[in-house]
Amino acid sequence: MSPESKGKEMGKFLVSLDDSAVFSLFCTKVYGRDLTQMNRMDEPQFDRLLVQLRLTENDHVLDLGCGLGKITENISDITQSNITGVDFATDAIIRAQNRTKRKINRLNFTEADINDLSFPLESFSCVIAIDSLYGDFIDDLHTVFCKLVKFLKPDGQMGIFHTEYSLERDDLHPQMTAVALALKNQGLKFKTWDYTENELLLLEKKISVAKELEPKFKSNQYNLYERIIKHSEKLLLRIIKGESRRYFYHIKLH
Ligand SMILES: C[S@@+](CC[C@H](N)C(=O)[O-])C[C@H]1O[C@@H](n2cnc3c(N)ncnc32)[C@H](O)[C@@H]1O
Repeated sequence: MSPESKGKEMGKFLVSLDDSAVFSLFCTKVYGRDLTQMNRMDEPQFDRLLVQLRLTENDHVLDLGCGLGKITENISDITQSNITGVDFATDAIIRAQNRTKRKINRLNFTEADINDLSFPLESFSCVIAIDSLYGDFIDDLHTVFCKLVKFLKPDGQMGIFHTEYSLERDDLHPQMTAVALALKNQGLKFKTWDYTENELLLLEKKISVAKELEPKFKSNQYNLYERIIKHSEKLLLRIIKGESRRYFYHIKLH
């Protein structure tokens, strides 16, 4: 499937989540608030992102894989930073643009493929990626980071949430994950925080909340209930078997 087709499909799916009353309730119960979350970032992780990045109105941030852009918007509302959100999910980007028209001075949403980004050199002070660098949609992390470094100012930074999966335990060490190796390949220094336990608890909560809301999910065209249960159980099992670890990476260029 071409990136355009993937983006179209993902956009339709995200818009259906945005329109779903039961998914809104699901997010409120799982995450404590409804930002139509498609991630594994609970509140302590969100706080970590804000504490480490210390964004201000002087920052210009690139949010990779922003989806509907509600987290992007929330980060900008809290920090007053300028954020460009990119995603290949066409309809989700249109939703984000329409929703945030009154905040156009600090929020910009653009349809783009993370594999094929193009910005002027040193455009951003910070790059964020919240669960948007997974292998199903990203061709090569090394190439992505090589470009991102060029888009960043010399004193720029990045904040990345990513869950690693491997049958080899050594690959799950925070300095040996695919993200870590791609960062080191660019000569980048970073600190990590392990959020595997948070992810485990969040996945358990997703399963129990979905089960509680099962009757309300009934008529969903995307079989949302089955998708949530199947996906969460698969990820949970990987953690339990020791085949998966979740990290926050904070990268400082200097
Ligand atoms: C798991 S969701 C996370 C969305 C959002 N960051 C959040 O935390 O709710 C992954 C997002 O990355 C986007 N994405 C994945 N691969 C992409 C690519 N190659 N180019 C642009 N967007 C991509 C998807 O469309 C989706 O919106």
